Amino acid sequence: MSETKFEYAIHEYATPFYIFDTDILAMQIRKIRGVLRPEVELCYAMKANPFVIKELEDLVDSFEVCSPGEFSICERAGVTMGKVVMSGVHKKPEDVEYAIKQYADQIIYTAESLSHWQMLASCGERLQTRVRVLLRLTCGNQFGMDESLIRQIIAQNHSEFITIEGIQYFSGTQKRSLKKLENELKMLDRFCLELNQQYGFTVNKLEYGPGLPICYFEEEKNEEDEMLNGLAAALKSLAFGGRIALEMGRFIAAPCGSYVTRVVDMKTNKGEPYCIVDGGIHQLNYYGQMLAMKKPPILMLNHRDGETKEWTVCGSLCTASDVLVKQYPFYDLQTGDPLIFQRTGAYSVTEGMSLFLSRDLPQVLLYSAKEHFRIARPGFPTDAFNYFQS
Ligand SMILES: Cc1ncc(COP(=O)(O)O)c(C=O)c1O
Repeated sequence: MSETKFEYAIHEYATPFYIFDTDILAMQIRKIRGVLRPEVELCYAMKANPFVIKELEDLVDSFEVCSPGEFSICERAGVTMGKVVMSGVHKKPEDVEYAIKQYADQIIYTAESLSHWQMLASCGERLQTRVRVLLRLTCGNQFGMDESLIRQIIAQNHSEFITIEGIQYFSGTQKRSLKKLENELKMLDRFCLELNQQYGFTVNKLEYGPGLPICYFEEEKNEEDEMLNGLAAALKSLAFGGRIALEMGRFIAAPCGSYVTRVVDMKTNKGEPYCIVDGGIHQLNYYGQMLAMKKPPILMLNHRDGETKEWTVCGSLCTASDVLVKQYPFYDLQTGDPLIFQRTGAYSVTEGMSLFLSRDLPQVLLYSAKEHFRIARPGFPTDAFNYFQS
């Protein structure tokens, strides 16, 4: 988004706010698709940023939806249910029943345990509806199931109400090792082949979360293109012949977002210059930030020159850990200056500890050249959530 557009937004809307540029979002999808083979599907993990699902609906093949709350956001947004993959380690039978009753066999469900599997089978039987399932393979944590259990389920699946569509696998976010991606894909390739050879079972769909990395800090090498190209090459060398869907959140959404906060106070304490902003760490999340030591991309609109001075930027919370960045060099920083933290389109709006101190949730704005600015969510008071309700 151009500086003039930021200037306009800052003039029109109270800080702090997020702004998600849906043109940049579409550009990022084009970039990803441009590198991958055309038949590779994209599944957007909406936990990264649920505000952009409508904008993504025609651009991605599916949505990974991980909770009843996320599911109800999809319903309210009118997302095509045939695009929903209902994922998540905790599924309640009543939520699954509701979804099957409402949407029959349009949705795909992941099974992350034997009891998930049994619950999906019995929901299907009770409602006499076919349930389409992806079996999630674990990478060695609480998610998914061991290979041995997946084999057992496949070998013993006699339920006429369950169709096993394939395998889901996700082992973590912000991956920087191409070797790790290659090894994971090789392991999945081998597993799918063995399922076919040993049980005559064809994996139709492989849903793989590569956890592609976003470069957030000045001091880091930008490996985004290298990892994307490497992933594309590794996918090409698979023997697997079914559908491949890449389940991604951060890599799709991060570049489109900015978080705008304003300097409200400045001081020097024991020789250290501090500025206080109206936002804080409860609304901003850079994966891999360490004690605010690394420098995220901050855009300043007022191009002042002269000497820089290093300021430690602190938020409005009541904790000494509310430091957005330490000793960041600014040209002639002044109270009232907006600071635009960039690359915040993924996980800042959803992962922050937004109830701490009962501060208002920031406004969320969407921007595109065609539709200009829209308020997706107004600023929202949170005091009601932190108070005895009955
Ligand atoms: C199952 C699953 N798939 C996909 C993702 C998205 O990961 P990323 O944002 O790194 O692409 C996550 C993130 O937690 C996840 O849990």
